Amino acid sequence: MAALTFWRRSIQARVVASTLVLSFLVVSVVGWFLLRQTRDGLLDDRVDAVVAEALDETEDARTRLASATLSDVDAAEQPASLVDHFSTVATPSWTFTTIRRLAPDGETPVSEPGIAVGSQVTLPADGRTYTLYLLFPTSEDEETLALVTRALLTAGVLLLLLVAGVTWLVAQQVVTPIRMARRVAERLAAGQLQERLEVSGEDDLARLATSFNQMASNLQRQIRQLEELSRVQRRFVSDVSHELRTPLTTVRMAGDVLHDAKESFDPVTARAAELLQTELDRFETLLADLLEISRFDAGAAQLEVDDVNLVDVAHRVVESTRPLADQRGVRLVVRAPDRPCLAEADVRRVERVLRNLVSNAIDHAGPRRPGATPTVVVRVAGDDHAAAVAVRDHGVGLAPGESAMVFNRFWRADPARARTSGGTGLGLSISLEDAHLHGGWLQAWGRPGEGAQFRLTLPRRNGDALRRSPIPLIPDDVVEPV
Ligand SMILES: Nc1ncnc2c1ncn2[C@@H]1O[C@H](COP(=O)(O)OP(=O)(O)O)[C@@H](O)[C@H]1O
Ligand SMILES: [Mg+2]
Repeated sequence: MAALTFWRRSIQARVVASTLVLSFLVVSVVGWFLLRQTRDGLLDDRVDAVVAEALDETEDARTRLASATLSDVDAAEQPASLVDHFSTVATPSWTFTTIRRLAPDGETPVSEPGIAVGSQVTLPADGRTYTLYLLFPTSEDEETLALVTRALLTAGVLLLLLVAGVTWLVAQQVVTPIRMARRVAERLAAGQLQERLEVSGEDDLARLATSFNQMASNLQRQIRQLEELSRVQRRFVSDVSHELRTPLTTVRMAGDVLHDAKESFDPVTARAAELLQTELDRFETLLADLLEISRFDAGAAQLEVDDVNLVDVAHRVVESTRPLADQRGVRLVVRAPDRPCLAEADVRRVERVLRNLVSNAIDHAGPRRPGATPTVVVRVAGDDHAAAVAVRDHGVGLAPGESAMVFNRFWRADPARARTSGGTGLGLSISLEDAHLHGGWLQAWGRPGEGAQFRLTLPRRNGDALRRSPIPLIPDDVVEPV
């Protein structure tokens, strides 16, 4: 397994391996060719020598035979015998063979490669032709050949080792800067924007390093600019909100005075005082939300952790939003277990999240069928690792893609809603920040006409990582389209 990972990760290993395979093929082919050449050369020489020797031997034999029998032969036949003599000096025929003989001890059979040469001799005595076979062992040549083979093999293996070593070194030269670049890129990605590559020389790798560094510098500059920009923006929002607080308090006091005195006004002025009061309420909420958001942005939000029973929180929130629900003709239902559902959390924040979810649900719960009472169900559940609250309504629902957008600041499905009902458009973004501060999840599900469900999941112990939620995000009563 480790070897496989090494193989997949190391260019060097792969380069060396492929070079080895290729050079092995080349060395084998060249070696085979050399061996064949040597062998053919050796044997050709040997055959030439052997045939020449056989000729000599035959000549010799014939001369001896001729001289031995010349006296017995009629002088008149001499020319014929001479003619005969010359006619037998044909090229002897030869073949490779295996010579089987007994070793010098006379018992052990030995077989060795050799060449058999056959030539014909005519015996002048009876005028008949005999074939003379001469056997020449070639074991010496075989030995030479074996020697050459061994030398070639050793040379081949050494050559392969050398090639592997050289390739390793060359690949190392190329790979080392690449590895360095990878490490620096990783550190850049991890946010260490000041990391740079060392540039030495002017070769391709040095030019790569220069471009890489340029890219890193540009990135760093742009990220700095963006950070600065967003810091300025956050600062601006925070400053404006703070600056608005004092005049708002004054306007509020004046508005309160007017509102209290509206009985004595004529109807038009009284209506104006009423409107002023409502808008001042909204203004105050918006300002409070903006201040809260800037606290999150500045990283100043603090979590005051306590053991919180989500069942209690759900009941409290439902009780406090019941007047609103009654006003809209919405039925509020809590479905919770009898036992407490505990989580380490900041009770003020959890309550705020839930209040926003419930009031959103009431706002959007509108009857699916005319005449039916819209219902909002708040469900609480928990397991060993997590506790969750889900708020389900059967109203307008969410269009595809909206379940992510609802958490954007000031995002509203219906922009006109800002003037008629609902909060500031910051409710869900604040709720999401609150959930994240707990290491929890806030997720939305919705389908047009089938309502929506918002689910808050918190880890039982603060700091634990969440893996799953005790309540499914898609409500059980929904039939998934196939
Ligand atoms: N239960 C819901 N059903 C349908 N849409 C919803 C629901 N809750 C929230 N939304 C959508 O998300 C938007 C943002 O909600 P929120 O951040 O609470 O701001 P606000 O309530 O002030 O509009 C709402 O304007 C609405 O379009
Ligand atoms: Mg809201």
